[in-house]
Amino acid sequence: MRISFLCLFALSSRLCWARKTSNITQIILENAKADNIDLTVLPFLDDALNAIVTTYTDANQTSHRRANGSIIDVHGHIVPDWYRAIQPITGGSPTPQWDLESWLAFMDSEGIGRAIFSFSCPAANVFMGNKIMTVALARLMNEQLAAVARAVPNQLQFYGIVPLPYADEAIVEAKYAVEHLGAVGFFLTSNFEDNYLGSSVLRPFLAALENMPTRQIVLVHPTTPYIRFDGQLIEANPFPTLFPSGEIEFYFETARTLQDLIVTQTILNFTNIDYIIPHVGGAFPATADRTLKALLSESTYNATLETLRTRFWWDSAGPTYYHQVAGLLGYGIPKTQLLFGTDFPYAKAGESASLGAIEDSDLLSVQDRKMLFTTNAEQLFGH
Ligand SMILES: *[C@@H]1O[C@H](CO)[C@@H](O)[C@H](O)[C@H]1NC(C)=O
Ligand SMILES: *[C@@H]1O[C@H](CO)[C@@H](O)[C@H](O)[C@H]1NC(C)=O
Ligand SMILES: *[C@@H]1O[C@H](CO)[C@@H](O)[C@H](O)[C@H]1NC(C)=O
Ligand SMILES: *[C@@H]1O[C@H](CO)[C@@H](O)[C@H](O)[C@H]1NC(C)=O
Ligand SMILES: *[C@@H]1O[C@H](CO)[C@@H](O)[C@H](O)[C@H]1NC(C)=O
Repeated sequence: MRISFLCLFALSSRLCWARKTSNITQIILENAKADNIDLTVLPFLDDALNAIVTTYTDANQTSHRRANGSIIDVHGHIVPDWYRAIQPITGGSPTPQWDLESWLAFMDSEGIGRAIFSFSCPAANVFMGNKIMTVALARLMNEQLAAVARAVPNQLQFYGIVPLPYADEAIVEAKYAVEHLGAVGFFLTSNFEDNYLGSSVLRPFLAALENMPTRQIVLVHPTTPYIRFDGQLIEANPFPTLFPSGEIEFYFETARTLQDLIVTQTILNFTNIDYIIPHVGGAFPATADRTLKALLSESTYNATLETLRTRFWWDSAGPTYYHQVAGLLGYGIPKTQLLFGTDFPYAKAGESASLGAIEDSDLLSVQDRKMLFTTNAEQLFGH
């Protein structure tokens, strides 16, 4: 039987916890065990559990804080020290430092009142090819995410992490993340060990999302591409280029995985899932007609466009509103589908939110901006 955290949701969480549930570490370990997850395979487990416990004990300082502004950031990340230690490089650049206080100060300074966040890539796939560790890491990440969200209940919500490409385990984790921890969506990377999101390996997981009682939201986050070669997983673009993969390869990853989802007709067959695509689609708009006109019948192409205009949402993370967004809008994507995202703390200084570029964009009216910053996200995630 799983031990409930419900008490922690109460406003007086600290008191409640002190009175009733003595040992958070024990609860986490026992809940994992109930799902056949052995967290002790992770050598850094103690550091991570300590960080989670600290997140809960420090929550007294943040649990009543009030937002400075109404902007909703649908693309934030946490980087606890224990995670940065196991993933020191992300997309070819140093993984940034992060702490909750600086994040909340950044939100205040930009007028961001609410954020939906997760770990960034590669998320649970740090130990690529190792199933037991991937499954354990996904659980630990979800416990950490839930702790941060509960520490700032008025402002933060999280996307759950799943241990794909292991579909059965990912389904168990998804259920736990939603039902037990309160995840409001899922963070999926563009590929999982060489499987793009239309892959039949991942399909049972998407089918499980499709059949969950409530509509599910997935954030499709680009990651460094991997392929299987001679039985080994290797970086798909192993030759050093001038550019870190995060600065160029990621945009093509978004294009590849969207085309995979579309050409396999996954987005047409599973209708109970909404997709958030970062960086207003990366390289997808520039490549979409080329691929889709060639590979889809006209009626499927039409149905796909309709789906891209209604069940897809496009976040602004990165320097996307100087020029890039025009390519996306060229596909008739309505402004009701545009969302604001920062990619904090991974975005480089100065492009953190591209707030200025959005505010200066000729493509947006005052009303469009209000939708992009706030009401579109409320439409998707609720108030
Ligand atoms: C909490 O439980 C863990 C694991 O069972 C144990 O190692 C630790 O000593 C306990 N902490 C407290 C404060 O009781
Ligand atoms: C919050 O709790 C921590 C740990 O129990 C304590 O050190 C700190 O003084 C408390 N802070 C506030 C603002 O109550
Ligand atoms: C609140 O947000 C506004 C921008 O909306 C900013 O100018 C102001 O400095 C912020 N206040 C604090 C305390 O960060
Ligand atoms: C979606 O449905 C089409 C038509 O029935 C079928 O050809 C295709 O294999 C299905 N794809 C997925 C991902 O379920
Ligand atoms: C596809 O959409 C275009 C433009 O709206 C329309 O002219 C065409 O008849 C549609 N084709 C099919 C097969 O539905």
